[in-house]
Amino acid sequence: MNEILLMLPGPTTADPRVLQAMSKNVVNHRGDEFGKIYTETTELMSKTFQTQNDSYILTGSGTSAMEAALANLVNRGDKVLNIVGGKFGGRFVEIANVHGIESKTLDLEWGTAVSPDQVQEALDADEDIKAVTAVHNETSTGVAAPIDEIGEVMKNYDALYIVDTVSSLGGDYVDVDKFHIDACVTGSQKCLAAPPGLAAITFNDDAWAACEKVEANNYYLNMLKYRASGNKDPAQTPYTPSVSLIYALKAALEVIHEEGLENSVARHHQAAAASRDAVKALNLELFPDEAVSSATVTAVNIPEGATDNDIRGTMLNKYKVQLAGGQDHLKGNIIRIGHMGVINYQELAITFTALGLTLKGLGLVEDAGAGVAALADHYI
Ligand SMILES: Cc1ncc(COP(=O)(O)O)c(C=O)c1O
Repeated sequence: MNEILLMLPGPTTADPRVLQAMSKNVVNHRGDEFGKIYTETTELMSKTFQTQNDSYILTGSGTSAMEAALANLVNRGDKVLNIVGGKFGGRFVEIANVHGIESKTLDLEWGTAVSPDQVQEALDADEDIKAVTAVHNETSTGVAAPIDEIGEVMKNYDALYIVDTVSSLGGDYVDVDKFHIDACVTGSQKCLAAPPGLAAITFNDDAWAACEKVEANNYYLNMLKYRASGNKDPAQTPYTPSVSLIYALKAALEVIHEEGLENSVARHHQAAAASRDAVKALNLELFPDEAVSSATVTAVNIPEGATDNDIRGTMLNKYKVQLAGGQDHLKGNIIRIGHMGVINYQELAITFTALGLTLKGLGLVEDAGAGVAALADHYI
C-alpha cells in the first residue's frame, strides 16, 4: 500500500463515514433541510465545547475564528493581554495589530507553559486589559497550557477570557463553562478529524455583551450577523457556507460522541503518554518538559548527527509516514509527531517502527524496535 500515513498535528485523516457524508449533494443553504443539519452541527459543537452557549460555524480555517473572537470582542485602541509561547500565541498578537488593538504580551520561552500566577500578576499590573488570549495546545511546541487554572484566575477579573482550542478540542479536556471561558475557538481539521476549511466559535453572555458594544471593524466575521442568522427559522449563516464541509463536520462530531468525548480525550492522552515513552526508548529527547506536554502532539529534539531531512525525509519517502517539522526558529531543531483525530495504537505502531528503522539506518539507535516495545506498556 502506498498511501501516506499522516501523523501531522493537523490536518488529520478522516473516518470513512465523514468522507461519505461529504459526497451527498448540496442543498439550499437557506432551506429547511440545511437549517436542520446546521442546527444539529452547532448543537454538537456546543456539546463538544461543553457549554450551554450557542456555537457558530465559520467557513474559514481556525485562524478565521481566532480573528472573529478578537475583532468582535475588543475595540480598536483597547488593550489585550496575549500569552505567547509559540507560533499560535503569536498569531493572536498579529491579529490584534492588524485590528489596531493594543497587544501586551506575556512572553514565554518556547517549550514552556504559562502559570496562572503569571496571568494574575499581569492582570493586577494593568487594569486596562480588556481580554486575555490563551492557546490551549501550542501546536508549534507541543505544550499544553493549564486553561482550567487560568480560568480560575480569570473569573475574578472583568477581562474576557479567549481560548484557542484549535488543536485540543476532542483530544484534551476543554470545558468552556467550567473553565470560565468567555470565547472559545477551534478548527475542523485536527482532533475533530474533519477536513480542513471550517472553524467553530462560541461566546457566553459576557462576550455577547462586549460584542454588542464593540465597533465592528470587520465584515465577513461580524459575529452579530452570525447570531442573527443562526436565530432565523430555518437557522442559517449570513453568507453561503461550505455545505459539504458542514455535512462532514456533523459526521465527524457524531463519530466523537459515539466514542464518547471522555473516551476520545482519554485515547489521546494514552497515545501521548505512549508516544513519549517510545521517543525516550529510542534515545531521543522530548522538546518540552513532560509535565507540560501536549495530549495531541509530541515535539522531539532532532538528535545530534541527524538533520530534519534525515529523519522526516526518510520517514516519508521510505516508510510513507509523514511527521511535521519545527516552525519558525525551531525549524530544523525539532520534529513533531501528531497523534490527534481517529488514530490509535495501530498508527503509533507503524510510526514508531518506521522511526526506529530510520534511526537505526542513521546509526543512532541499536535496537530499532525499542520504540514499539515501549508502546506495549500502554496498550497491552
Ligand atoms: C493552536 C492552533 N491555533 C490556530 C491554528 C490555525 O489554524 P488554521 O491553520 O486552521 O487557520 C493552528 C493550526 O495549526 C493551531 O494549531
